[in-house]
Amino acid sequence: SDTVESLEVILEDEVTHVQIVLRYAVFEEADIITRSASVRNAGKDTIHVKKFMSTCLDFLNGSDKDLLHLPGRYGQERQVERQKILHQVSKIASGRGTSSHQQNPFVAVCDRETSEDYGGCYGMALMYSGNFLAEIELDQYDQLRVQMGINPKQFDFALAPGEKLEGPEALLTYTRKGFTGLSHIYHDFFRSNLCESKFMKETRPILINTWEAAFFDFDDKKLVEIAKCARKMGVDLMVMDDGWFGKRFDDNAGLGDWVVNEEKITCGLEKLVEQINEIGMQFGIWFEPEGVSEDSDLYRAHPDWALQIPGRPAVRSRNQLLLDLGREEVQEYLITSINRILDSANITYMKWDLNRSVTDVFSSALPADRQGEVYHRYVLGLYKVMDGIIKTHPDILFEGCSGGGGRYDPAMLVYFPQYWNSDNTKPVDNLKLHYGTSFLYPLCSTGAHISAASPEIPISTRACVAMGGTFGYELDATKLSPEELAECKEQSDRFRKYYPIIFFGDYYRLTNPFEGGNMTAWQSVTKDQEEALVSVVVTGLTVNGPQEYIRAKGLNPEWMYEIEQLGVELSGAALMHAGLPIPREIPQYTSFQYHLIHK
Ligand code: DGJ
Repeated sequence: SDTVESLEVILEDEVTHVQIVLRYAVFEEADIITRSASVRNAGKDTIHVKKFMSTCLDFLNGSDKDLLHLPGRYGQERQVERQKILHQVSKIASGRGTSSHQQNPFVAVCDRETSEDYGGCYGMALMYSGNFLAEIELDQYDQLRVQMGINPKQFDFALAPGEKLEGPEALLTYTRKGFTGLSHIYHDFFRSNLCESKFMKETRPILINTWEAAFFDFDDKKLVEIAKCARKMGVDLMVMDDGWFGKRFDDNAGLGDWVVNEEKITCGLEKLVEQINEIGMQFGIWFEPEGVSEDSDLYRAHPDWALQIPGRPAVRSRNQLLLDLGREEVQEYLITSINRILDSANITYMKWDLNRSVTDVFSSALPADRQGEVYHRYVLGLYKVMDGIIKTHPDILFEGCSGGGGRYDPAMLVYFPQYWNSDNTKPVDNLKLHYGTSFLYPLCSTGAHISAASPEIPISTRACVAMGGTFGYELDATKLSPEELAECKEQSDRFRKYYPIIFFGDYYRLTNPFEGGNMTAWQSVTKDQEEALVSVVVTGLTVNGPQEYIRAKGLNPEWMYEIEQLGVELSGAALMHAGLPIPREIPQYTSFQYHLIHK
């Protein structure tokens, strides 16, 4: 429904006749401006594009500004860092060939006094899944320049006369409503403008994934047993993770051979899916399309399809190499072999994983002087393969993943309504993971599961945390007691009840888990403010400490709200200004969910 105005500014160099086209699109209702650039060689000689930024923001005075970004690592993605901008050139970047675990293509430039709820804040997010750069320069006169685009590291793109290169879009915004305001703008934009999948609007299935339940050690019988128990937990979808194809008995072999391993799936895929469907569950499947094992039929037939530097030993990571996704024959192979599996049975979900960074950046399909294009061609090839698989299967729910939550970036959300947030399923760590991820990404995109990690934490609290995302299970359901299965069923039902609030509402970070308080709390409120869900996890206990309160946000101060779990009514003003008293002297890691309903 948004009216979008667009503008193109064409700049031409008088000497070389190289043209730069700056593109702007104004999404007025969403409060987003997109900006990108393209280069056209209108001259007579080949040119080399070596630095290609999508956007550049200049601030008259940046001496009172801070920079916020989302650095991380495997298992600890998107932690939040805020720092003073100093007189220097600083870089937030990935050179790993993917947007990465270590950085995220997003920066916010805010006023020094900007807080969670108040203050000026500019956001810049790049729609790109490869090497990116955000370059921040505060000059001698306190002028600040922030650029964002493709990382120039090993980037050298040749353009012959008449050729053109398009750059990725940056999503720009500004708010005076602090980080909450910034997150709301991006969450709304991502939910309504980015992902075309029908699952952005529909209720998604609750899934159980086999990875932490069985790793590579499963067969069709084991899967059926897990599915039977999972059904009792109220789960809708069973996902067969890594290990079902080729000679994949561990992570040394099989990647690239997208044919069913009949030693494990003895009944064949179609029959397995039928059995799962008969139990009343949908069936999902895992792929790592970009990876290739040297011990695979694919590699034996096409060693040149892997990225590898001639004459040098390959750099393996997780015992594997990567395919040269810039090559058309590789793209065609992946689209054909993966679609063949997806179309061979009643498959309604696919998890797309990638378990290493891009190294050995040499394509045997390109001449030596064009190797500077490999990183970028890989990303373009990836989008093409995704178009050929994801866009041709509108009824399949696709979940993105990269060794947990690496490469969780805005461009990925064009394809994936949900993205696995982290391989770290420990609930206390997830309080921070969800907090950081929520700066840019809506909860409905954040994959979160209850697992058997952290058995010391009650399953009710694990569920409370997983409901801060897409909610599902990552455990061996056959090992749960009847009481635990029943408790999971109650959780699944509760998640379905709260689904519209969590998935479509406005999200508020009520506390900052990085500040080390006694509890972490967050909240979702429906757009009409009729309902809200306040979630609290107690992570620190003070014996005989003062009464603690969690103050709600985003309610209508004039309205009365029933707190369903307490059977009491309080005004929106009381809930927001005095807060909800949290019971004292409770066991560590107790959690609370308060459902607020307008009376
Ligand atoms: C990494 C993912 O994050 C896990 O969930 C799992 O799919 C493994 N890869 C499988 O290799």
